Amino acid sequence: MSKAVIVGVGMTAFGRHPTTHFTHLAAQAIEEALVDADMDFTEIQQAFCSRVYLPSSTGARVFEVMGRTGISCPDVEGACGAALAGVRQAKLMVESGQVDIALAFGVEKIGKGFMPPTILYDDWQCQMGLTQNPQYWALNARRHMHDHGTTAMHMAKVAAKAKRNGALNPKAFFRKPMTVEEILASPMVNDPLTLYMLCSPVDGAAAAIVVNEKLAHRFGGRPIEIAACEHAISRYPLLNASSFCTTPTDHPSVYRMTAEQAYARAGIGPEDIDVVEVQDNDAFSELEYYEELGFCPRGEAGRMIDDGVTELGGRMPVNPGGGLQARGEPLGASHLGQIYEIVKQLRGEAEQRQVEGARTGLAQVFGAFGHCGVTMLKRAY
Ligand code: COA
Repeated sequence: MSKAVIVGVGMTAFGRHPTTHFTHLAAQAIEEALVDADMDFTEIQQAFCSRVYLPSSTGARVFEVMGRTGISCPDVEGACGAALAGVRQAKLMVESGQVDIALAFGVEKIGKGFMPPTILYDDWQCQMGLTQNPQYWALNARRHMHDHGTTAMHMAKVAAKAKRNGALNPKAFFRKPMTVEEILASPMVNDPLTLYMLCSPVDGAAAAIVVNEKLAHRFGGRPIEIAACEHAISRYPLLNASSFCTTPTDHPSVYRMTAEQAYARAGIGPEDIDVVEVQDNDAFSELEYYEELGFCPRGEAGRMIDDGVTELGGRMPVNPGGGLQARGEPLGASHLGQIYEIVKQLRGEAEQRQVEGARTGLAQVFGAFGHCGVTMLKRAY
């Protein structure tokens, strides 16, 4: 097996793009990645397009803008994990030698407000009034508060960190720093989650060019190895995955399982990670992932945020790009937005939000119906 490395990344600003067609949003991200890699679009041998709410054959439609080169470009869907599934396909095809150069891109146009419930929830859930994701996230947070003494202040600190970091990221949607007081005082959406603790659904696109490491020297972008890219669907219903039929069991969560698979494949442990991006759909879920990814023992996530461990300048910065809470979430592009951030960090190109000396990074994603994944990246030069 060859190693797969990323030699080019691109990302639009995440936010509201009412007058830009999704094909042009995707093309912007792809073109930035091509410039980054110093590569021509005709060199791409295989592509994967990730999207969730956009229509059938979004990828093929993007090729009408980029150029019909005749290569394969299926759409890959997996809720918020869609882009991870696409990157994983690109990695596997390069590693297996079927192609040398693959493109993974993700795009979404979704608009503001709650997500359309009928796509995510069964009729009986809608009849019970449990039709919005934040309702489930709040139940999840409440359980942790009950079991471990986590507080709304811990969540507000996570959200304030996201806003601070987002202010340093020119591609983030929310760029205004906020105090914990402002966050706690923003409108209550689902107790304990206030408006400013939630991610906003936004429009945007991101792309990564994955090549066989033996060819990496031909391209411009300094290569970043995809040391692991693991994807699974949870075996049991999860409270923040469109279901509240959860049953506590002794089985490891899908978060823990995919993280352990990724650590094993990459030969890297949680203690070796320099920079992290997690799926902070809400401020509580970031705390949950500190524990599930093995950064601290169960019940101690609150202490990690209190002690500043995950701040820029802390021992293990989490979501230096602002996470979904500041960047916003274009579902199909979500994980590629995380990869864009980690690649920039590992190359030392993250400017004001740079994590000094970062050599290894982890990006974690989670989506409705139990899609979960972890990508591990490390410098390959
Ligand atoms: N941080 C800072 N400001 C925020 C914010 C945040 N997290 N969320 C909203 N705002 C601001 C908006 O910019 C807007 O400001 P404006 O009036 O100056 O334009 C104002 O608060 C009102 O918010 P709105 O535009 O209605 O926010 P929204 O479209 O993001 O809708 C929710 C709010 C809660 C409905 C929406 O964020 C939501 O459903 N989030 C969850 C998304 C989701 O389920 N994703 C899951 C993928 S599995």
